[in-house]
Order: sequence, then C-alpha cells, then structure tokens
Amino acid sequence: MTPPYSLDDRLPADHYAGALREDVAAGLTASPKSLSPKWFYDARGSVLFDRITRLPEYYLTRAERMALRAHAADIAEQTGARTVVELGSGSSEKTRILLDALAAAGTLERYVPIDVSSTALGEAGQALSRDYPTLAVTAVLADFEHELALPPPGETGPRLVAFLGSTLGNFDTGQRTAFLSRLRSALTGGDALVLGVDLVKDPAMMIRAYDDQQGVTAEFDKNLLTVLNRELNADFQPGAFDHRAVWNAEQERMEMRLRARVATSAKIPPLDLAVDFARGEDLRTEISVKFRREPLTAELASAGFAVEQWWTDPQERFAVLLALPTA
Ligand code: AVJ
Repeated sequence: MTPPYSLDDRLPADHYAGALREDVAAGLTASPKSLSPKWFYDARGSVLFDRITRLPEYYLTRAERMALRAHAADIAEQTGARTVVELGSGSSEKTRILLDALAAAGTLERYVPIDVSSTALGEAGQALSRDYPTLAVTAVLADFEHELALPPPGETGPRLVAFLGSTLGNFDTGQRTAFLSRLRSALTGGDALVLGVDLVKDPAMMIRAYDDQQGVTAEFDKNLLTVLNRELNADFQPGAFDHRAVWNAEQERMEMRLRARVATSAKIPPLDLAVDFARGEDLRTEISVKFRREPLTAELASAGFAVEQWWTDPQERFAVLLALPTA
C-alpha cells in the first residue's frame, strides 16, 4: 500500500526570486551590511547544515534531542495532538521523537512539515511516509515568515506546532514579536506549541559551535555567496572572505560574519547594484539569538502564550518548552 503523502506548493511563483532580490538589495546597501540566513539552504547548504548538526562542537542538536527524548511522552500526554505541524522542518529528524511518542499514545494522525526547501521537504516527506505507514504526511512548501499555512483546526485538531532547532533565534526582537503574535492568532484552544531554543552560556562554547575545527561552518557561511552568484548572476569571490563567529554580548546573540580579507567588490546585475567591501569590512550573514527563561517567558506571554513546561538537557545548554495559547 502506498502511504499517503502529498506536497502542497504554497510559494507564489516568483516568491523566492522576489524575496531574495528585496533582501539582497536592502541588506547590501545598509550599513553595516547584512543578509537574511534564509538563503543558506540550497541543496548544498542543506547538506552542509546537516553536517554541522553532527559536529562535535555543535552541541545544539544533540542537546535538543536529549531534552525531547526525555519529555516527549509528557508532550504527548499533555497535548493529545492529532496533528504535528512543523515550521522549518528540514530533515524532520528530531521530530520523529515527537511522532513516536504521539503514535505510542494513540492520538497521532497527521504530520505537516512546512519548509521553503523543496529538496529537504521531498526527501524528509518520502522517508517519513515510508517509516510511518499509517501517518498522513501533507507537506507544505511555504515561507512561514510570510504565510503560516497551518491545516484547518476543525479537521486536524488538536494541533501541536513544533518550532525546533532554535530557528526562533534567527529573528531579532521585532521579528520575533511579529512572528509569535501571528502564530498565536492562527491557533485555537487545545492547540499547543513546542519550541526549542538555545540558551545563553559560556561564550567560548558558543563561539566554537559556530566556528568549528573542520571548517564546515565556514563552508556553510561562504556558500551564501555561491547562492547569490547562481541565483542573481553575481560575481562574489567567496575566497576573498573569512568566516567569523562573533558573540554579541549586548544583544546576547551569536553572529556569523564574512569579513573581506582584501578590498573586494561584487556586481549584482538584476539589481543594477555594485557593492564594494573595504578590507576588513564585515557582512553579517546570520544572527542566532540565545535565550534566558524569564525574558522569553515574558515575550511569549505578551504574544498570548503561557509557558506550561520548561525542560532542558542535563547540562542546561538548550531548552524545549511547551506553551499553550491563552484566552
Ligand atoms: C538552524 C538557524 C538554528 O543558528 O544555530 C548553524 C544555523 N548557523 N551553524 C543556528 C547555523 C551556523 C542554526 N539554525
């Protein structure tokens, strides 16, 4: 029997190209220069990110998995979810822990992975529907920053929205407020949110996690320029840049930056743009905000979520929390 699998393409035809152009035009003419981390994940970027999650220095994935394993049964019991909706599902690897717990509790019917990467969605979706033959896997190709694309509550609730991997940390304060409020208004009573976030800790440990010995993160960072070269016919020279991982202590976030080792420039023909980098100038390619319990709980409360459970890995590096919409 063929397991039920479907892919709903909700990305408007030119969404990717349009959003990329807007972001690049704004970010590269700003000072300091920056780009959105959304564009890392082409096929090669997704492979590199997968390797990052297995690096000895990148503790995030293992710490989150530990916390999820220890508490998945509680999550299943407290939510009774029939549907798991995952925002930025990627390889869906850790999600299996949640799916297994909900299947064991007997409530699981449907999994809705939502991602902008069609390759990641396709591979993960097929593998999941093979390994979970009775699960309805209805994948959605969408950019959750623009459209949440949740399945209708009546037919699929209670729904558990999973937002894992500290992807929330890619948003600055303003983006987080907007995103969390939008998510809250898409939920109804009985739904729940499971959120995975990286915590503030010894800066040296975080810096190692974003600047590994083997240089995989450096490759991942520079791949962004390769994406721009391909998608925008640009002529960045990835070799002219050095990868840097910087702890921004005021904003409590890690930042990845590409620093021009020499003066260099790049043309971006479709934008009619030429960008000059001074020697030593940084292009910020990602922020990864690190969280603390009290302020995050307050942020969630103002968006309309009550934190019901806050779990961490044994070393308290990473938190998995269960939040419910408030009235
Ligand atoms: C997938 C966004 C959570 O910020 O830690 C990994 C991406 N960047 N190494 C993160 C990433 C550098 C990752 N997120």
